[in-house]
Amino acid sequence: MVPLGPNVDGFEGDLEAFLGLPEGRVVALNSGTAAIHLGLIQLGVGPGDEVICQSFTFSASANPIAYLGARPVFVDSEAETWNMDPALLEVAIEDRMRVTGQKPKAIIPVHLYGMPAKMDEILEVARVQDPY
Ligand SMILES: Cc1ncc(COP(=O)(O)O)c(C=O)c1O
Repeated sequence: MVPLGPNVDGFEGDLEAFLGLPEGRVVALNSGTAAIHLGLIQLGVGPGDEVICQSFTFSASANPIAYLGARPVFVDSEAETWNMDPALLEVAIEDRMRVTGQKPKAIIPVHLYGMPAKMDEILEVARVQDPY
């Protein structure tokens, strides 16, 4: 769906240079949906898995979970940024481990309306739950 050519190649190359990555490590996609979909495939998400997603978002944040036959587990927002509540994230992970015996495969926070989610706290919960 993306008209490929020198502009896309140049954008990918510029981004690799900016990030200090070797050639061929950045790929431009046609949409945010495709980027989330590809990311979840890279993480090995598949049928029967659960993936945590923010409940207050556009449906496209959760659609790629369903495309892969996985199940979204929605986490509510906190009042300051309206994005994923790190405390409720922890509750959700513990609940899913208790009910299914498995950790959710991934967490999809959203920076809705340009407001950054509380990433430090979200990453801290993710690290405690999965230190590797
Ligand atoms: C919060 C959110 N996530 C994902 C998407 C999906 O992005 P795209 O339309 O580029 O697939 C959108 C699109 O509006 C969005 O608002």
